[in-house]
Amino acid sequence: MSALLAPWDGPEGAGRARDLFAEAFGGAPEGVWSAPGRVNVIGEHTDYNGGLCLPVALEHRTYVAVRPRADRTVRLVSAQEPGGAREVDLDAVAPAGTRGEVPGWAAYAVGVAWALERAGLAPAGSLPGFDIAVDSCVPYGAGLSSSAALECAVAVALDDLAGLGLADGDAGRTRLAAACVRAENEVAGAPTGGMDQAASLRAQAGHALLLDCRDGSVEQVPFDLAAAGLALLVIDTRAEHRLVDGQYARRRQVCEEAARVLGVPSLRETADAVMAGETTLDDVLARLDGEHRRRVRHVVSEIERVRELAALLRAAPGAALTGGEQARTGALLDASHASLRDDYQVSARELDVAVEAARAAGAHGARMTGGGFGGSAIALVEAARAAEVADAVGEAFAAAELTPPAFLLATPAGPAARS
Ligand code: GLA
Repeated sequence: MSALLAPWDGPEGAGRARDLFAEAFGGAPEGVWSAPGRVNVIGEHTDYNGGLCLPVALEHRTYVAVRPRADRTVRLVSAQEPGGAREVDLDAVAPAGTRGEVPGWAAYAVGVAWALERAGLAPAGSLPGFDIAVDSCVPYGAGLSSSAALECAVAVALDDLAGLGLADGDAGRTRLAAACVRAENEVAGAPTGGMDQAASLRAQAGHALLLDCRDGSVEQVPFDLAAAGLALLVIDTRAEHRLVDGQYARRRQVCEEAARVLGVPSLRETADAVMAGETTLDDVLARLDGEHRRRVRHVVSEIERVRELAALLRAAPGAALTGGEQARTGALLDASHASLRDDYQVSARELDVAVEAARAAGAHGARMTGGGFGGSAIALVEAARAAEVADAVGEAFAAAELTPPAFLLATPAGPAARS
């Protein structure tokens, strides 16, 4: 039977990070902070278009044990990264692609310190160097935001250690999230859109986060899967996904070009105009060429699907999806996958196999989640049948001669915090 990858509980995660810290640096850290990975329920490739998305934070978290130093050196070690400790001078950190860029995973951690100072959230040169040990049960490179979880754990750690007080409320967390995005875009060089960091810093347990990426506002939408006897099965296809390669950037660029042709600041305005009946999607698409047309059709229809699913969840009695609502939710997930596969062209064979096998085994609906080109899919299933669906997906992978997938359940959990 397929095993579900269980999250660590807080003491286990903190204990692992402390042990690694003692082994690498000696002594005890000042504290341990942690931040969750995420899955996006719906609203893919909408964030950098000013659109809507609906992620949930996972129970699976990244733990960082941190001790400030008297100088501006950062020493880093990670249980997930071979090669021992790294050392970076905070004053020498430079954007990706320039001299002084920070290679590899360390960029996600030191980039946050750099961005907090660059954004003026901490005075320039004021943050101390630090020793940091990282351990995580967020599957790595699986499209579940292991990088955002690291950034956000570091952000709440530095916020606490420097007494910035930003993690105390949603407005401050929004600013921390922006700094994490900046770290990822500028220091790590991945042109991602911001959903992941918002989910990791601003999501609430038992809720999905309806994020409006135009103005950064959020609505906590109750999402009580268990009450309806449902579960969200995450299928990590083990097909490695990379956001630093050119495909993601190319999608983003095409959307920006399309917005220029349409004379709008972002495709969100186009989606709103279609929704308001000021124009039709066909009229919009008629003004665009082939590649732009497909991408815009995905973005506009996907924003509409987010609105519809959020409305279903808001209206669900006791926040539990039942009967026809389950069927409609499943249909929205299926439509999202088809749009990402056919119009946005970011799916992968492994994702299509996962989605089809899950549906054939009785899932209400299934779709790829995250940036795509590998990574993970989600399936909305009867909780009692989650293991059965996982087995059926595993069998389909074996029949297709693919690497066996891994599975976990997405239970909407809480945001980055001290552990
Ligand atoms: C990745 C990025 C996000 C978002 C998704 C697609 O996860 O990090 O910003 O663009 O892809 O929805």
